[in-house]
Amino acid sequence: MVNTITVVGAGNVGATTAQRIAEKELARRVVLVDIVEGVPQGKGLDQWQSAPIENFDTRVIGTNGYAETAGSEIVIITAGIARKPGMSRDDLMNTNAGIVKGVAEQVARTSPNAILIVVSNPLDVMCYVAKKVSAFPRERVLGMAGVLDTARYRAFLADALDVSVRDIQAMVLGGHGDTMVPLVNYTTVSGIPVTQLMKRERLDEIVQRTRGGGAEIVSLLKTGSAYYAPSAAAVQMAEAIVGDQKRVLPCSVWLEGEYGHSGLFLGVPCKIGGRGLDSVIEVDLTPDEKAALAKSADAVREPMAALTF
Ligand code: APR
Repeated sequence: MVNTITVVGAGNVGATTAQRIAEKELARRVVLVDIVEGVPQGKGLDQWQSAPIENFDTRVIGTNGYAETAGSEIVIITAGIARKPGMSRDDLMNTNAGIVKGVAEQVARTSPNAILIVVSNPLDVMCYVAKKVSAFPRERVLGMAGVLDTARYRAFLADALDVSVRDIQAMVLGGHGDTMVPLVNYTTVSGIPVTQLMKRERLDEIVQRTRGGGAEIVSLLKTGSAYYAPSAAAVQMAEAIVGDQKRVLPCSVWLEGEYGHSGLFLGVPCKIGGRGLDSVIEVDLTPDEKAALAKSADAVREPMAALTF
């Protein structure tokens, strides 16, 4: 357990994240920050009132400022606007870049040793904004995308094969967008290559559905985007840090030559522990997967270059 985990943005993703952290008692206090007056306070109070029923002692505190967040060990950034039907994650870029910039400045000032977990979209570009503005080392700026994309892929596979999700191991790499790269060759069902259990065409359909997994939910919800699985994914990363678990999870991190790329955030397999990023794990990729990852990197570099802040 750590002392304080701050969640910035008390909307759908942020509030659900705070609740999951409290229910797991990952910290003594969860501080929920939002610009809208009353909302983080109201949601925080409501969540704290669930404590006697759910049996947790983590205090949930809502605020509009950063004084209460001082010295946080982990800060999860979910502030920003969410997608509406027909919008791509990149359409959110300039609005969310301004928001994430402001948040990162405040966090760097009040919690200079925090580990940041960025959730706001477009994810890989927002990680870059957070890193640049905070000037934190790469170990302490992690983007949540791969855990979510992999969870979607695993959920679809579990349905198609009618097996427990627990038995499906997989990794989805690349940027958090349509160019993400599910590693089919490393997908197993309790060690059995998935290619032995499913026809290639069916697998390709699942890969396609995974790529559009976020958009599928946006089109169903009509207002707003996914938050149950995104919050679960962010909390799994926080849990790996709090428990120094050395979990091997796909996260968006600042690359310094790994997989042949540098100077951008991209989803790769990482070992996550108490310091944040412990190391990037490099695995062999097929020529097709390498090409797909390069395409994904281009899809992140392009909006990065267009950033105006
Ligand atoms: N500081 C703090 N909170 C802010 C700021 C800011 N500068 N600007 C906006 N917010 C808050 C909003 O007031 C709102 O409560 O961020 C919250 C966003 O909540 P939602 O609109 O419900 O969006 P959500 O579904 O939570 O998604 C947030 O995460 O998954 C991504 O694409 C998604 O970028 C989006 C982000």
